[in-house]
Parts: sequence; structure tokens; C-alpha cells
Amino acid sequence: MKNVKSENKVKEPNDNIVKRLLGEVKRVGWGVTLGCLLSALSIACSLAIPIILSDIIDQLNNLWLQKQGGIIAEDISYLIKPLILLFSFYTAVELFAYVKMLIMNNVISRHFTCAIRMDMSDKIARLPVSYVDKTQPGEVLSRMTSDVSVMGNSVHGAADIIVAGMLQIIGISVMMFIYNWQLALIVVAFVPFSMWLSSGLGKRSEKYFDKLFSCGGKLFSCVEETYGGYMTIKAFNLEKSREAIHTGINGEMMESETKGIYIASIVQPIIAFANSISYVIICLLGGYFAVSNLLTVGGVVAIILYSKQLANPLEQIADGISGIQRVKAASKRVYGMLDQAEMAPIRGEMPSKIKGNVDFEHISFRYTPDKPLISDLNISVKSGQKIAIVGPTGAGKTTIVNLLMRFYDLDSGKIIVDGTDISAVSRESVRNVFSMVLQDTWLFKGTIFENVAYGKEGVTREEVEQACDSAYAHHFIRTLPQGYDTEIDESTANLSSGQKQLLTIARAFLSDRALLILDEATSNVDTRTEGLIQKAMDKLMHKKTCFVIAHRLSTIVNADLILVINKGDIVEMGTHKELLEKDGFYAEIFNSQYSI
Ligand SMILES: Nc1ncnc2c1ncn2[C@@H]1O[C@H](COP(=O)(O)OP(=O)(O)O)[C@@H](O)[C@H]1O
Ligand SMILES: [Mg+2]
Repeated sequence: MKNVKSENKVKEPNDNIVKRLLGEVKRVGWGVTLGCLLSALSIACSLAIPIILSDIIDQLNNLWLQKQGGIIAEDISYLIKPLILLFSFYTAVELFAYVKMLIMNNVISRHFTCAIRMDMSDKIARLPVSYVDKTQPGEVLSRMTSDVSVMGNSVHGAADIIVAGMLQIIGISVMMFIYNWQLALIVVAFVPFSMWLSSGLGKRSEKYFDKLFSCGGKLFSCVEETYGGYMTIKAFNLEKSREAIHTGINGEMMESETKGIYIASIVQPIIAFANSISYVIICLLGGYFAVSNLLTVGGVVAIILYSKQLANPLEQIADGISGIQRVKAASKRVYGMLDQAEMAPIRGEMPSKIKGNVDFEHISFRYTPDKPLISDLNISVKSGQKIAIVGPTGAGKTTIVNLLMRFYDLDSGKIIVDGTDISAVSRESVRNVFSMVLQDTWLFKGTIFENVAYGKEGVTREEVEQACDSAYAHHFIRTLPQGYDTEIDESTANLSSGQKQLLTIARAFLSDRALLILDEATSNVDTRTEGLIQKAMDKLMHKKTCFVIAHRLSTIVNADLILVINKGDIVEMGTHKELLEKDGFYAEIFNSQYSI
């Protein structure tokens, strides 16, 4: 038996995140290349500065020695050229670094974040309904907003300072060895220690960043629930308990952020301290070398300057490594979503003319592996028949509709529409042969006209008005101040739930498909509108194969076939009259409803 759901387990990728991120950086390859080039130029210029300074100092030292010997040089204009050079190099270092930062932060980060966010929104369209069932909206929201931002905004910065830092360390070490290998050795000996410290502590901060971002997901969900259920929370005086949940998540977030940042921040002072020690040793030893004529004063100054310069990349790398841990934690969540198993795309199409014969052949299905719901269900429906599905709440009525619409894949068996197995054609083409009116009306932000016209492409005003007329909605729409141009959305207070339902029925009239599904369409409406909805639905069902789920049994007494289901199984089947005569489960539900 094929079990599709087991493939859809939420998994968070752990390995190869850095490798994947590097692969991702290829998308902005041009910017990265330019950034690296500018970085290298800025570093090269900064490496030249101590050489010039050392040269100037040696010249001045000579001057001083000559003065000691009684020779006073009148012309010191030869110092102007190196001073101008020095100024130019200082300017170039900052200029290149500035342009690089502009490119990295603005161009690449935005480009990168945007590209990944697009990948994620494309992904949502391909995710199976089962993923949506088990994932809270806040979780998806936080991954698509804050996690992507952290990933996009920090990845280049962190990678940049690590790459630039390495280049700088190599460049500085080479230059120092050229001047004096003994002094260079002392400075360079501190590099592995600093690296070990940064990477070790960096790794320890990763788990706190993991926790921080997963709390971010919880926080989004919590806010979404509190805001979405605002009225319910007020009605049941749940403000305090919601606040407690919020405080809990907030506290957890603060704790992980504080710990993560604390670990990241202790690296810098330790490195600075180690660097200062090497600096003092260089000053002492350098002084000795200069006095012993092993090195010029300018040479000592150059090495001191280089050793000071070396503190920068070491501290930056520590920062970069902590940045990478943040990026890794955020990327795990982003990739966790991007890696979800998708619905397999199927190219086949349903036949263009649908008569409406539907057969369920030995279908079995369960939402969760340990809870079998439907097993070996067989139903045969002829074109134009009206099938009512009846049963207690949780019996599996909506599940049958979900399977018919291919929101979920069957564990086994087949659903055949007009001779075509619906699992062999694309989901879009299956959904195109059905009209649906559900308990939850789904209206989007837009005018009434747009909401109804949504049922079919390229419809005219007349067609929409006609559909609304058939759905008994025309009258109430005309009484609205802006008529068909009235702006609505799902939360609009100016329409009653019954009126919203009439609009979805009008939408179904307009789409006019061969198969119709009505799932508890009258559950949420006032009794006055219910009569209208009932009339509209009766008209809508004309000449269509219909699957009707209704909690009021009076609406289904005329069905050609009534399926009584309980716990996923058909327990009785027949017409209303036959089932009443049988005096079984159906008769029991029917009589209990009428005795109330
Ligand atoms: N998305 C889902 N994931 C897991 N279980 C579900 C899901 N939807 C429904 N169920 C379970 O399947 C059973 C049948 O549900 P449903 O078909 O919605 O019943 P109803 O007859 O009230 O329409 C119920 O026990 C319900 O809890
Ligand atoms: Mg239901």
C-alpha cells in the first residue's frame, strides 16, 4: 500500500547547509565577484600603507641621524610624494570598502532575499493539503518573513567578512615575513588560537539561534491566533491566559537571544586581549632588533602596524562565524519548508465533456497512519443523480468530498469520473469539473461582481447578474448602496453569512460544472435566508450529479440515494423511504432530529 503521508513528515535539514548556501550564492554570482574584487583591492591598499609609513619613518630617522652628525638637510620635499601616496591609499581603502558594502548590503541581499521568497511562495502552491493541515500559519509566515530576511541579509555580510578576513590575514602575514620572520612568527602564532576560539564559541551559539528562530515561528502563530480569535477571546475572558502564553514564548526568545549574543560577544574581547599581548612583545623585541641593527626603525613600525591591522580580521572573523550560525539557524527553517515533499505533478487531462458518472472503487484512506478512517468504500453514482451523505459529526462525510476533489491522495482504490481515474489526471483538471458550495464561504477582498465572476474566466456583467438572480442574491445586492460594486472581504460586516452563502451559490451557478458538491451549505445561516438558499440549491442541482451533505435531513429526502456513514463506513444505503422502512441508523437520526 502506498503511503503518501509518511513522505510529508516535517523535517529540518541539518547537513550541508553551508554548502547549499554557497550554491545559492551563485544566483548573485556577478555581485559576489565584484564584491570580492573590491574587497581584495581595499585589502591590497591597506597592506601598502605600513610600507609607505615605514619608508617615511626610515627617511625621517636618517634625517635625524644626519642631524646628529651635524648635517642639516634643507630640502625635505621628497617626503611630499609618499605623504600624498599615503593619503591616496587611505582614501582608496575606505572608498573600495564603502562601494563593496553598498553592493553587498543593498543589491545582493535584496536580490537574494527576493529570489528565495519567490521560491517559497511557488512552493506553497505545490505543497500537499496535508502539510497545510499540520503547519500553523504563523510558522509559515515567520519562515517566509523574518527567517528569509536573516538568511538573505546576513549571508553575504558573514561570508564577506570571513573571506575578506582570510585574505587580510594571509596578506598581512606575508608582508610581516618579508620584513622579519622572527617577529612575524610571534604575531602569526596567535592566529590559530583566535580561530579556534571563534569557531568553538560560534558553534556553541548555534543551538540558541535555532531556538530563537523556532520561537519566532511560535510567536507568529500565537499573535495570529490571538488576533484571529479576538472576539472569542474577549467573550470567554481568555485575555490573561493568552497573555501568559505570549509571555512564555517571549521569555524563551529573550533567553535564547541573550545567550546566543553573549557567547558571540565574549569572543571579541578575548581576541583583542591576545592581540594586545603579541603587540607588547613585538614592541619590546622590535625595539631590541632596531637597537641591534637587525631591522630598521621603519621596519619595526611596519610590523607593529601590521600586527595592529591583524586584530581587525580576527575579530571580524569571530563576528562572521557568529553571523554564519544565525544564518544557518534561519536557513534550516527556510530549507525545511523548501524541502517538503510536493504533490507529484500529473499532466493528464479530464475529458472535455463530462456526463457526471462517478465510481468509488475499494477506496481506503486515513489522515494519520495510526487512525484508519475509510476502508474499502464502494459507491456508484450515475450521471444526474443526487447523492446525499448523512452521518454524525466526524463520520467522514467531508473526507469523501476531500477525496473526490483530490485534496488528499488515496491509500488504495480508485475514484473514477466518466471512466477516467482521477489520480491519473492533473489536480486542476479534476477540480475544473466540480462546483462547490461549502459551509465556510470564501470571499476575497474585492467587489461583489469580482467575487462572483471568480467562478469563470472572462464573464460579462449580465452573466454575473443572471447567476445572482438564479441564486436569489440579485435582490439584496440591488439594495446595497453600491450594488455589484460594493467592496467586500471575508470579514465584512455588511453581509450576513446567509448572503455570503448566496454569493458562493451564484459563483457555482456561473461556473456551471457537471458535478456539484454541497457540504453543509446551510449550517451557518439564519432561518430566513436558509429558505432562499434551499431554493437556490435545488435549482443549482438541476441536471447535475450532486453530492449533498446536509445536517438538516429535510433537505435530502428527495435524494436518489442516501449514504449513511458512520466512522468512515457506509452503514446503510437507499432512498429516504427505504431507509425509514428499514428502521435502522438513518431512521434513528431522522426521528431524533424531528423530535427536537
Ligand atoms: N485534516 C485532517 N487531518 C487529520 N484528521 C482529520 C482531518 N480532517 C478530518 N479529520 C478526522 O477525520 C474524521 C472525519 O472527519 P470529517 O470527514 O471532516 O467528518 P464530517 O463527517 O463531520 O464531515 C474525524 O475524526 C476528523 O477528526
Ligand atoms: Mg464535515
